[in-house]
Amino acid sequence: MSGGLITTDLQGRITLLNPAGGRLLERRLQDMIGTNVQELFLDRLPVIEASSARTEIRCEVGCVTPRGAQKIFGMKATLLRVPEQGDLGYIYTFADLTDIRRLEQEIRMRDRLSAVGRMAAGIAHEIRNPLSSIAGSVKVLSSISALNDEQRTLVQIVTRESERLNRIISDFLIYSREKNYKFRVLNLVSLLNDTLTLLENHPLIASLGKSDSKNISLVRQYTTADAFAMVDGDRLKQVFWNLCENAVRAMPEGGVLTVSLTGKEQTWAICFSDTGSGMDAQLLEKIFEPFQSRFEGGTGLGLAIVYQIVQAHEAQISVSSAPGKGSEFRLEFSRAAREDALHEPDAEKPPVVLAKAGGTRG
Ligand SMILES: Nc1ncnc2c1ncn2[C@@H]1O[C@H](COP(=O)(O)OP(=O)(O)OP(=O)(O)O)[C@@H](O)[C@H]1O
Ligand SMILES: [Mg+2]
Repeated sequence: MSGGLITTDLQGRITLLNPAGGRLLERRLQDMIGTNVQELFLDRLPVIEASSARTEIRCEVGCVTPRGAQKIFGMKATLLRVPEQGDLGYIYTFADLTDIRRLEQEIRMRDRLSAVGRMAAGIAHEIRNPLSSIAGSVKVLSSISALNDEQRTLVQIVTRESERLNRIISDFLIYSREKNYKFRVLNLVSLLNDTLTLLENHPLIASLGKSDSKNISLVRQYTTADAFAMVDGDRLKQVFWNLCENAVRAMPEGGVLTVSLTGKEQTWAICFSDTGSGMDAQLLEKIFEPFQSRFEGGTGLGLAIVYQIVQAHEAQISVSSAPGKGSEFRLEFSRAAREDALHEPDAEKPPVVLAKAGGTRG
Protein backbone atom coordinates (compact mmCIF):
# COMPACT_ATOMS: atom_id res chain seq x y z
CA MET A 1 0.00 0.00 0.00
CA SER A 2 1.57 3.32 -1.04
CA GLY A 3 -1.00 5.43 0.84
CA GLY A 4 -0.91 6.16 4.53
CA LEU A 5 -3.20 4.50 7.04
CA ILE A 6 -3.87 5.40 10.64
CA THR A 7 -6.34 3.77 13.00
CA THR A 8 -7.44 5.32 16.27
CA ASP A 9 -9.76 4.53 19.13
CA LEU A 10 -12.93 6.58 19.61
CA GLN A 11 -10.97 9.24 21.52
CA GLY A 12 -8.60 9.73 18.56
CA ARG A 13 -5.62 7.95 20.15
CA ILE A 14 -3.46 6.29 17.52
CA THR A 15 -3.47 2.48 17.55
CA LEU A 16 -1.76 1.84 14.20
CA LEU A 17 0.28 3.68 11.58
CA ASN A 18 1.32 1.74 8.48
CA PRO A 19 4.94 2.04 7.15
CA ALA A 20 3.84 4.12 4.11
CA GLY A 21 1.99 6.51 6.44
CA GLY A 22 5.09 6.71 8.61
CA ARG A 23 7.19 7.68 5.61
CA LEU A 24 4.67 10.32 4.47
CA LEU A 25 4.45 11.85 7.94
CA GLU A 26 8.15 11.27 8.67
CA ARG A 27 7.17 9.58 11.96
CA ARG A 28 7.64 6.15 13.55
CA LEU A 29 4.75 4.03 14.81
CA GLN A 30 6.40 3.41 18.18
CA ASP A 31 6.58 7.18 18.83
CA MET A 32 2.98 7.70 17.78
CA ILE A 33 1.05 4.96 19.63
CA GLY A 34 -1.36 6.56 22.08
CA THR A 35 -0.88 10.16 20.91
CA ASN A 36 -3.85 12.05 19.56
CA VAL A 37 -4.08 11.85 15.78
CA GLN A 38 -5.13 15.50 15.63
CA GLU A 39 -1.65 16.57 16.77
CA LEU A 40 -0.18 15.34 13.47
CA PHE A 41 -2.15 17.76 11.31
CA LEU A 42 -2.67 21.50 11.08
CA ASP A 43 -6.36 21.26 10.15
CA ARG A 44 -9.11 19.58 12.14
CA LEU A 45 -9.80 16.02 11.09
CA PRO A 46 -13.43 15.20 10.32
CA VAL A 47 -15.43 13.57 13.08
CA ILE A 48 -18.14 11.07 12.16
CA GLU A 49 -20.88 10.93 14.74
CA ALA A 50 -21.91 7.38 15.59
CA SER A 51 -25.54 8.40 15.09
CA SER A 52 -24.83 9.86 11.64
CA ALA A 53 -25.86 8.07 8.47
CA ARG A 54 -22.52 8.99 6.91
CA THR A 55 -19.81 6.42 7.34
CA GLU A 56 -17.10 8.23 5.39
CA ILE A 57 -15.85 11.84 5.09
CA ARG A 58 -13.18 13.17 2.69
CA CYS A 59 -11.17 16.34 3.15
CA GLU A 60 -7.73 17.90 2.70
CA VAL A 61 -5.47 18.63 5.65
CA GLY A 62 -2.12 20.39 6.03
CA CYS A 63 0.81 19.05 7.98
CA VAL A 64 4.32 20.16 8.94
CA THR A 65 6.63 17.15 9.32
CA PRO A 66 9.30 16.95 12.05
CA ARG A 67 11.89 17.91 9.38
CA GLY A 68 9.89 21.05 8.54
CA ALA A 69 8.35 19.96 5.20
CA GLN A 70 4.92 21.47 4.55
CA LYS A 71 2.57 18.87 3.06
CA ILE A 72 -1.04 18.61 1.98
CA PHE A 73 -2.84 15.28 2.37
CA GLY A 74 -6.07 14.06 0.82
CA MET A 75 -7.74 12.31 3.72
CA LYS A 76 -10.59 9.80 3.96
CA ALA A 77 -12.02 9.14 7.41
CA THR A 78 -14.24 6.14 8.09
CA LEU A 79 -15.71 4.62 11.21
CA LEU A 80 -14.02 1.42 12.39
CA ARG A 81 -17.23 -0.56 12.81
CA VAL A 82 -17.07 -4.23 13.81
CA PRO A 83 -20.21 -6.38 13.68
CA GLU A 84 -21.50 -7.22 17.17
CA GLN A 85 -18.89 -4.97 18.77
CA GLY A 86 -20.08 -1.64 17.35
CA ASP A 87 -17.90 1.40 16.68
CA LEU A 88 -14.35 0.89 17.92
CA GLY A 89 -12.66 3.94 16.47
CA TYR A 90 -11.66 5.56 13.19
CA ILE A 91 -9.67 4.63 10.11
CA TYR A 92 -7.86 7.42 8.26
CA THR A 93 -6.38 6.72 4.85
CA PHE A 94 -4.38 9.49 3.22
CA ALA A 95 -2.30 10.34 0.17
CA ASP A 96 0.24 13.10 -0.42
CA LEU A 97 -1.26 15.83 -2.66
CA THR A 98 1.50 18.41 -2.06
CA ASP A 99 3.08 18.20 -5.52
CA ILE A 100 -0.28 18.11 -7.34
CA ARG A 101 -1.57 21.17 -5.48
CA ARG A 102 1.68 23.05 -6.09
CA LEU A 103 1.58 22.23 -9.80
CA GLU A 104 -2.06 23.27 -10.04
CA GLN A 105 -1.26 26.59 -8.41
CA GLU A 106 1.72 27.10 -10.73
CA ILE A 107 -0.37 26.40 -13.82
CA ARG A 108 -3.12 28.78 -12.66
CA MET A 109 -0.53 31.48 -12.06
CA ARG A 110 1.22 30.93 -15.41
CA ASP A 111 -2.10 31.17 -17.26
CA ARG A 112 -2.97 34.38 -15.48
CA LEU A 113 0.50 35.83 -16.03
CA SER A 114 0.61 35.13 -19.74
CA ALA A 115 -2.87 36.58 -20.35
CA VAL A 116 -2.21 39.66 -18.21
CA GLY A 117 1.26 40.01 -19.70
CA ARG A 118 0.21 39.96 -23.34
CA MET A 119 -2.53 42.53 -22.83
CA ALA A 120 -0.49 44.87 -20.68
CA ALA A 121 2.55 44.72 -22.98
CA GLY A 122 0.33 45.86 -25.84
CA ILE A 123 -1.06 48.75 -23.80
CA ALA A 124 2.38 49.76 -22.55
CA HIS A 125 3.66 49.89 -26.09
CA GLU A 126 0.77 52.08 -27.19
CA ILE A 127 1.23 54.51 -24.29
CA ARG A 128 4.87 55.08 -25.09
CA ASN A 129 4.44 57.24 -28.21
CA PRO A 130 1.92 59.76 -26.83
CA LEU A 131 4.02 59.89 -23.67
CA SER A 132 7.12 60.90 -25.64
CA SER A 133 5.08 63.68 -27.28
CA ILE A 134 3.89 64.91 -23.88
CA ALA A 135 7.43 64.86 -22.45
CA GLY A 136 8.82 66.66 -25.51
CA SER A 137 6.11 69.35 -25.48
CA VAL A 138 6.52 69.99 -21.76
CA LYS A 139 10.25 70.39 -22.23
CA VAL A 140 9.57 73.17 -24.75
CA LEU A 141 7.06 74.77 -22.36
CA SER A 142 9.51 74.70 -19.46
CA SER A 143 12.01 76.74 -21.48
CA ILE A 144 9.61 79.69 -21.71
CA SER A 145 11.13 82.32 -19.46
CA ALA A 146 7.87 84.22 -18.98
CA LEU A 147 6.34 81.45 -16.81
CA ASN A 148 5.37 82.55 -13.29
CA ASP A 149 6.21 80.40 -10.26
CA GLU A 150 2.90 78.56 -10.20
CA GLN A 151 3.08 77.74 -13.89
CA ARG A 152 6.67 76.56 -13.53
CA THR A 153 5.66 74.24 -10.65
CA LEU A 154 2.88 72.77 -12.78
CA VAL A 155 5.26 72.16 -15.67
CA GLN A 156 7.72 70.48 -13.27
CA ILE A 157 4.96 68.15 -12.01
CA VAL A 158 4.09 67.09 -15.57
CA THR A 159 7.80 66.51 -16.33
CA ARG A 160 8.36 64.46 -13.17
CA GLU A 161 5.25 62.34 -13.58
CA SER A 162 5.85 61.63 -17.26
CA GLU A 163 9.40 60.53 -16.40
CA ARG A 164 7.98 58.21 -13.75
CA LEU A 165 5.45 56.80 -16.20
CA ASN A 166 8.17 56.28 -18.76
CA ARG A 167 10.26 54.37 -16.22
CA ILE A 168 7.34 52.11 -15.29
CA ILE A 169 6.66 51.37 -18.95
CA SER A 170 10.32 50.67 -19.69
CA ASP A 171 10.46 48.27 -16.70
CA PHE A 172 7.36 46.56 -17.90
CA LEU A 173 8.46 46.20 -21.50
CA ILE A 174 11.72 44.65 -20.32
CA TYR A 175 9.70 42.29 -18.16
CA SER A 176 7.39 41.28 -20.98
CA ARG A 177 10.07 40.79 -23.63
CA GLU A 178 11.64 37.38 -24.26
CA LYS A 179 15.02 37.13 -22.59
CA ASN A 180 18.22 35.37 -23.48
CA TYR A 181 19.83 33.65 -20.56
CA LYS A 182 23.49 32.72 -20.27
CA PHE A 183 23.66 29.70 -18.00
CA ARG A 184 26.90 28.53 -16.47
CA VAL A 185 27.90 26.73 -13.30
CA LEU A 186 28.45 29.34 -10.58
CA ASN A 187 28.78 29.44 -6.82
CA LEU A 188 25.52 30.69 -5.28
CA VAL A 189 27.42 31.80 -2.16
CA SER A 190 29.47 34.29 -4.21
CA LEU A 191 26.36 35.59 -5.97
CA LEU A 192 24.61 36.07 -2.62
CA ASN A 193 27.63 37.80 -1.13
CA ASP A 194 27.91 40.19 -4.09
CA THR A 195 24.26 41.17 -3.62
CA LEU A 196 24.46 41.55 0.15
CA THR A 197 27.63 43.64 -0.04
CA LEU A 198 25.88 45.92 -2.48
CA LEU A 199 22.87 46.12 -0.17
CA GLU A 200 25.04 46.97 2.84
CA ASN A 201 26.42 49.93 0.94
CA HIS A 202 23.17 50.98 -0.69
CA PRO A 203 21.29 54.12 0.44
CA LEU A 204 18.37 51.83 1.36
CA ILE A 205 20.24 50.81 4.51
CA ALA A 206 23.60 52.53 4.22
CA SER A 207 22.65 54.91 7.02
CA LEU A 208 23.24 51.87 9.24
CA GLY A 209 24.92 52.84 12.47
CA LYS A 210 24.37 56.56 11.95
CA SER A 211 21.91 58.66 13.91
CA ASP A 212 19.20 58.42 11.24
CA SER A 213 19.81 54.70 10.94
CA LYS A 214 16.85 52.48 10.17
CA ASN A 215 18.68 49.84 12.17
CA ILE A 216 18.37 46.95 9.79
CA SER A 217 20.72 44.07 10.45
CA LEU A 218 21.74 41.57 7.84
CA VAL A 219 22.42 38.03 9.00
CA ARG A 220 24.11 35.48 6.73
CA GLN A 221 23.50 31.83 7.58
CA TYR A 222 25.28 29.64 5.07
CA THR A 223 25.92 25.98 5.87
CA THR A 224 28.47 25.75 3.06
CA ALA A 225 31.01 27.96 1.31
CA ASP A 226 30.48 26.29 -2.08
CA ALA A 227 27.04 25.84 -3.59
CA PHE A 228 27.34 25.27 -7.32
CA ALA A 229 24.34 25.52 -9.64
CA MET A 230 23.72 26.10 -13.34
CA VAL A 231 22.48 29.71 -13.40
CA ASP A 232 22.60 33.05 -15.15
CA GLY A 233 24.57 34.97 -12.53
CA ASP A 234 23.45 38.49 -13.49
CA ARG A 235 19.79 37.54 -13.58
CA LEU A 236 20.04 35.65 -10.32
CA LYS A 237 21.61 38.63 -8.60
CA GLN A 238 18.61 40.60 -9.81
CA VAL A 239 16.36 38.04 -8.08
CA PHE A 240 18.36 38.29 -4.85
CA TRP A 241 18.36 42.08 -5.07
CA ASN A 242 14.62 42.40 -5.64
CA LEU A 243 13.90 40.09 -2.67
CA CYS A 244 16.31 42.01 -0.41
CA GLU A 245 14.94 45.38 -1.52
CA ASN A 246 11.40 44.27 -0.67
CA ALA A 247 12.47 42.90 2.71
CA VAL A 248 14.13 46.21 3.59
CA ARG A 249 11.12 48.21 2.43
CA ALA A 250 8.86 45.99 4.55
CA MET A 251 10.86 47.03 7.65
CA PRO A 252 10.56 50.84 7.75
CA GLU A 253 11.12 50.81 11.52
CA GLY A 254 14.14 48.50 11.23
CA GLY A 255 14.48 44.77 11.77
CA VAL A 256 16.49 41.73 10.73
CA LEU A 257 16.97 40.30 7.26
CA THR A 258 18.28 36.75 7.49
CA VAL A 259 19.65 35.17 4.34
CA SER A 260 20.29 31.45 4.62
CA LEU A 261 21.67 28.86 2.23
CA THR A 262 21.36 25.17 3.00
CA GLY A 263 22.12 22.06 0.99
CA LYS A 264 19.55 19.35 0.51
CA GLU A 265 20.11 16.05 -1.26
CA GLN A 266 19.55 17.33 -4.81
CA THR A 267 19.07 21.05 -4.30
CA TRP A 268 20.23 24.26 -2.67
CA ALA A 269 17.64 26.16 -0.64
CA ILE A 270 18.04 29.92 -0.20
CA CYS A 271 15.75 31.80 2.20
CA PHE A 272 15.25 35.53 2.60
CA SER A 273 13.47 35.99 5.86
CA ASP A 274 12.51 39.39 7.29
CA THR A 275 10.85 40.67 10.43
CA GLY A 276 8.80 43.24 8.53
CA SER A 277 5.14 44.00 7.95
CA GLY A 278 4.23 40.62 6.45
CA MET A 279 1.39 40.09 3.98
CA ASP A 280 -2.22 39.01 4.12
CA ALA A 281 -3.60 36.00 2.22
CA GLN A 282 -5.21 38.22 -0.42
CA LEU A 283 -1.88 39.76 -1.46
CA LEU A 284 -0.04 36.44 -1.15
CA GLU A 285 -2.38 34.79 -3.66
CA LYS A 286 -1.34 37.28 -6.38
CA ILE A 287 2.11 38.17 -5.17
CA PHE A 288 3.96 37.20 -8.37
CA GLU A 289 1.55 38.93 -10.73
CA PRO A 290 2.59 42.32 -12.13
CA PHE A 291 1.35 45.51 -10.49
CA GLN A 292 0.48 44.06 -7.08
CA SER A 293 2.05 46.71 -4.91
CA ARG A 294 1.40 48.01 -1.44
CA PHE A 295 4.77 49.73 -1.04
CA GLU A 296 4.68 53.48 -1.38
CA GLY A 297 5.98 54.39 -4.82
CA GLY A 298 6.25 50.68 -5.75
CA THR A 299 5.40 49.54 -9.25
CA GLY A 300 4.72 45.91 -8.44
CA LEU A 301 7.10 44.52 -11.03
CA GLY A 302 9.95 43.34 -8.79
CA LEU A 303 8.42 39.98 -7.88
CA ALA A 304 6.95 39.42 -11.35
CA ILE A 305 10.51 39.68 -12.68
CA VAL A 306 11.76 37.40 -9.89
CA TYR A 307 9.16 34.80 -10.80
CA GLN A 308 10.03 34.98 -14.49
CA ILE A 309 13.76 34.49 -13.84
CA VAL A 310 13.16 31.65 -11.38
CA GLN A 311 10.95 29.89 -13.96
CA ALA A 312 13.67 30.25 -16.61
CA HIS A 313 16.04 28.47 -14.20
CA GLU A 314 13.51 25.67 -13.67
CA ALA A 315 13.85 26.49 -10.00
CA GLN A 316 11.18 26.88 -7.32
CA ILE A 317 10.04 29.89 -5.36
CA SER A 318 7.61 29.89 -2.47
CA VAL A 319 6.61 32.41 0.14
CA SER A 320 5.16 32.23 3.60
CA SER A 321 4.00 35.29 5.45
CA ALA A 322 1.34 36.66 7.78
CA PRO A 323 0.48 40.26 8.68
CA GLY A 324 2.82 41.49 11.42
CA LYS A 325 4.80 38.23 11.37
CA GLY A 326 7.40 39.00 8.69
CA SER A 327 7.88 37.15 5.41
CA GLU A 328 10.04 34.37 4.07
CA PHE A 329 10.83 33.88 0.38
CA ARG A 330 12.36 30.50 -0.34
CA LEU A 331 14.22 29.56 -3.52
CA GLU A 332 15.34 26.10 -4.52
CA PHE A 333 17.91 25.35 -7.24
CA SER A 334 19.17 22.03 -8.57
CA ARG A 335 22.75 21.31 -7.59
CA ALA A 336 25.54 21.17 -10.15
CA ALA A 337 28.94 19.53 -9.75
CA ARG A 338 31.83 21.75 -8.71
CA GLU A 339 34.01 20.21 -11.48
CA ASP A 340 31.69 21.72 -14.09
CA ALA A 341 32.41 25.18 -12.75
CA LEU A 342 36.15 24.69 -13.15
CA HIS A 343 35.71 24.13 -16.89
CA GLU A 344 33.84 27.39 -17.30
CA PRO A 345 36.28 29.93 -18.76
CA ASP A 346 34.65 32.98 -17.16
CA ALA A 347 33.00 31.45 -14.12
CA GLU A 348 34.53 34.12 -11.91
CA LYS A 349 33.19 37.15 -13.72
CA PRO A 350 33.54 40.50 -11.94
CA PRO A 351 30.37 41.58 -10.11
CA VAL A 352 27.91 43.55 -12.21
CA VAL A 353 25.97 46.62 -11.22
CA LEU A 354 22.58 45.49 -10.07
CA ALA A 355 19.44 47.06 -11.34
CA LYS A 356 15.82 46.03 -11.42
CA ALA A 357 14.80 46.18 -15.04
CA GLY A 358 15.15 49.91 -15.80
CA GLY A 359 17.02 50.77 -12.59
CA THR A 360 16.65 50.58 -8.84
CA ARG A 361 14.88 53.26 -6.93
CA GLY A 362 16.54 54.25 -3.73
N1 LIG B 1 9.26 41.01 2.17
C1 LIG B 1 8.04 41.56 2.02
N2 LIG B 1 7.32 41.92 3.11
C2 LIG B 1 6.08 42.47 2.99
N3 LIG B 1 5.48 42.71 1.82
C3 LIG B 1 6.15 42.38 0.70
C4 LIG B 1 7.46 41.80 0.73
N4 LIG B 1 7.85 41.57 -0.55
C5 LIG B 1 6.84 41.99 -1.33
N5 LIG B 1 5.83 42.49 -0.60
C6 LIG B 1 4.55 43.00 -1.10
O1 LIG B 1 4.42 42.58 -2.45
C7 LIG B 1 4.26 43.71 -3.29
C8 LIG B 1 4.88 43.42 -4.64
O2 LIG B 1 6.30 43.41 -4.56
P1 LIG B 1 7.12 43.80 -5.86
O3 LIG B 1 8.56 43.71 -5.53
O4 LIG B 1 6.60 42.99 -6.98
O5 LIG B 1 6.68 45.30 -6.14
P2 LIG B 1 7.09 46.64 -5.39
O6 LIG B 1 8.24 46.38 -4.45
O7 LIG B 1 5.86 47.24 -4.79
O8 LIG B 1 7.56 47.55 -6.60
P3 LIG B 1 8.90 47.39 -7.44
O9 LIG B 1 9.63 46.18 -6.92
O10 LIG B 1 8.44 47.18 -8.85
O11 LIG B 1 9.63 48.63 -7.19
C9 LIG B 1 4.90 44.86 -2.53
O12 LIG B 1 4.38 46.10 -2.93
C10 LIG B 1 4.50 44.51 -1.10
O13 LIG B 1 3.16 44.91 -0.86
MG1 LIG C 1 9.94 45.31 -5.08
